[in-house]
Amino acid sequence: MSREQTPTPHIAAEYDDIARTVLVCGDPLRAKFIAEKYLDNARCYSEIRGMLGFTGIYKGKRVSVQGHGMGIPSIGIYSYELFNCYDVEKIIRVGTCGAYTTDVQLGDVLFAMGACTDSNFADKYKFPGTYAPIADFGLLRGAVEAAERLDIPYRVGNILSSDSFYDDPRQIEWARAGVMGVEMEASGLYLNAAMSGRKALTILSVTDHLATGERMSVEGRQTGLDQMIRIALEIV
Ligand code: HPA
Repeated sequence: MSREQTPTPHIAAEYDDIARTVLVCGDPLRAKFIAEKYLDNARCYSEIRGMLGFTGIYKGKRVSVQGHGMGIPSIGIYSYELFNCYDVEKIIRVGTCGAYTTDVQLGDVLFAMGACTDSNFADKYKFPGTYAPIADFGLLRGAVEAAERLDIPYRVGNILSSDSFYDDPRQIEWARAGVMGVEMEASGLYLNAAMSGRKALTILSVTDHLATGERMSVEGRQTGLDQMIRIALEIV
C-alpha cells in the first residue's frame, strides 16, 4: 500500500531509498552536513523545495537524514510521509531550542520526554480533551544510555513546541511548570508518531536563553550539534 504512495508530493525518493530510521532536522543544509560528515556512502534522494534528504550507512546500519523546515505544519508533512508512505519506524529529531528554566544552560543537551504546545495541530482529531505528546520510551532510554556511554551531560524533561518564534513574552510562564525550553516541532512529530503507531524522539541543544538573553557562539552551536548527532546515531 505505502509503496504505491511513493514518491510523495514532498519527497522525491522511491520507497526503498529511505531507511527505517531517519534523523530529521529543521535546516536542510544541516541534513547535508550530517550525511557528509557522519555517514558512509551518503546519497541524496530528494531535493524538492530544497528540503534535502540523504541515505547512508553508520556503523553498518542504514540510516537516512531529512530536513523538515520550521514549525509543526512543516514537520507534520515530512513526518507523515516518512511514517505512512515510506514505513519509517523511528524518527529522531536533532534540533536547537531556547531555554526557559534557569537550571538549563547554553550548550546543554535536552531529551524532550514530553512536548507541551500552543498549537492547534491535534485539534483535527477532536479528542475529548487535551492530548499529551510524549517521546517513545525505548528511544528515550536508548538516548540516555548512549549519552552516559559517551560521557555527554544531558537533561530529560518537558519542553514547549510553540507556533510563534517572535513577540510572545507570556511563553516564559511555562517555566513555572518546569518546562525546560522552547522549539517549534516536537509535539507535532510526537502526535504523528502516535497516530501512525511509530516511534519518535526529539533531542535538543540549547542555543539561547530566554530568561537571561544569552546566545550561543557559532563554535558552541557546532559542539552541541555534534553531541546530539553522536547520541542520535547510537540509537538508529
Ligand atoms: N524559540 C523557538 N524555537 C527556537 C528558539 C526559540 O527561542 N531557539 C531555538 N529554537
